[in-house]
Amino acid sequence: MSERDISSAIEDVISKVEELGSKMGESFREFRESETVETFTEGVKKGAKTAADGVSKGAKLAAGGIAEGTREFSETIKSTNAARKAEKADRHEVRLSNGVRIPLVGYGSYLATERDGRRTIIDALNEGYRYIDTARFYKNEHEIGEAIEESGIKRDEIFLCSKVWPTMLGAEKTRESFEATCESLRTDYLNMYLIHWPKVSQSDEEWVSKVRDTWAVMEELYRAGRIKAIGLSNFLPHHIRPLLETAKVRPMVDQLELHVGYMQEYTLAYLKKAGIVAQAWSPIGRGVMLQDDRIGRLAVKYGKSNAQILLRYLVQRGIPVIPKASSPDRMRENLELFDFSLTEDEISYLSCISEAGWSGEHPDIAELEGTDGR
Ligand SMILES: NC(=O)c1ccc[n+]([C@@H]2O[C@H](COP(=O)([O-])OP(=O)(O)OC[C@H]3O[C@@H](n4cnc5c(N)ncnc54)[C@H](OP(=O)(O)O)[C@@H]3O)[C@@H](O)[C@H]2O)c1
Repeated sequence: MSERDISSAIEDVISKVEELGSKMGESFREFRESETVETFTEGVKKGAKTAADGVSKGAKLAAGGIAEGTREFSETIKSTNAARKAEKADRHEVRLSNGVRIPLVGYGSYLATERDGRRTIIDALNEGYRYIDTARFYKNEHEIGEAIEESGIKRDEIFLCSKVWPTMLGAEKTRESFEATCESLRTDYLNMYLIHWPKVSQSDEEWVSKVRDTWAVMEELYRAGRIKAIGLSNFLPHHIRPLLETAKVRPMVDQLELHVGYMQEYTLAYLKKAGIVAQAWSPIGRGVMLQDDRIGRLAVKYGKSNAQILLRYLVQRGIPVIPKASSPDRMRENLELFDFSLTEDEISYLSCISEAGWSGEHPDIAELEGTDGR
């Protein structure tokens, strides 16, 4: 073969490589338009560089470039698949205003450790729960701390939420309560910290200033990284407004009693506008709503339990839930909510069910004076 023939063959290969490179570029572009994933962009950059290198170094290197490009391409596809999985997982989470994500289904621990102590929390972790809701008032933070330690699950894989009790509002007491919570939970930070109730009683005239002072401490702890998200619980719009007048950091969450039969739509609309995520406590109405025939009919239709219909209704509306269950079977059942959907009409129908299963607990009538939240 003459030198000329060799050089024309090389030209030939180079032009084919360029053509292939351009096709790969096209595919990358199309793919990138449909998937905004950082790792993907990285992959594209690497792939393009490899192809360009291959072209400039001639046929031999170009062949290497193709192989390398193909490898990069398949790596990119792999990372895109991983991103897709993460995206799928994302659909089981809610993003708070500061970017922190909370699982749509968490484990509610009120009275959960009464019978079997930390064993119940270990069961919940084994069933896949990674969000644990507790409060200083529940008196089970130490059992949760022990359970997490015993489970061997890394602290940063678990989302821990606790709450300061209304008898502990005010700057000094809030600090004291927060540190006691961290010590019991065997951690130096909380993923979320909430003000449990806005006031101790109807006659609590100091509640606004106490809430504001507590909030200022929570903001300080948030800025210091000791709390990743700060929020409220049982706050209605008329409790939130005075807080917002002085707050520097807006609350990210308001945990409320929410379930079919007690949806507090006025407060939900207010929270949505204010960018505060509503989270549901007693999402199955403490068991009362499980007896409801209207729920039972939908359960038969979907081949699901009544509890799953009640929970699905909330998560489908984008409201995170924290059901409490004592057995591993029920814990598992309450997590399996993502393989069916209620229709829009059913969501509308369930939203119109008039008051049923309300606990009777209300921030403006609660009498919590003398209770122990230390
Ligand atoms: N921020 C607040 O003021 C506040 C107030 C109340 C509660 N919370 C939080 O919200 C969490 C949940 O609320 P909650 O415990 O009052 O009520 P809930 O979760 O609506 O209901 C719990 C009851 O439902 C039963 N249950 C759970 N899953 C079931 C299933 N799949 N099938 C049949 N029955 C099932 C449980 O029975 P077993 O336990 O026998 O399985 C328990 O009796 C609490 O644990 C707490 O973390 C917060």
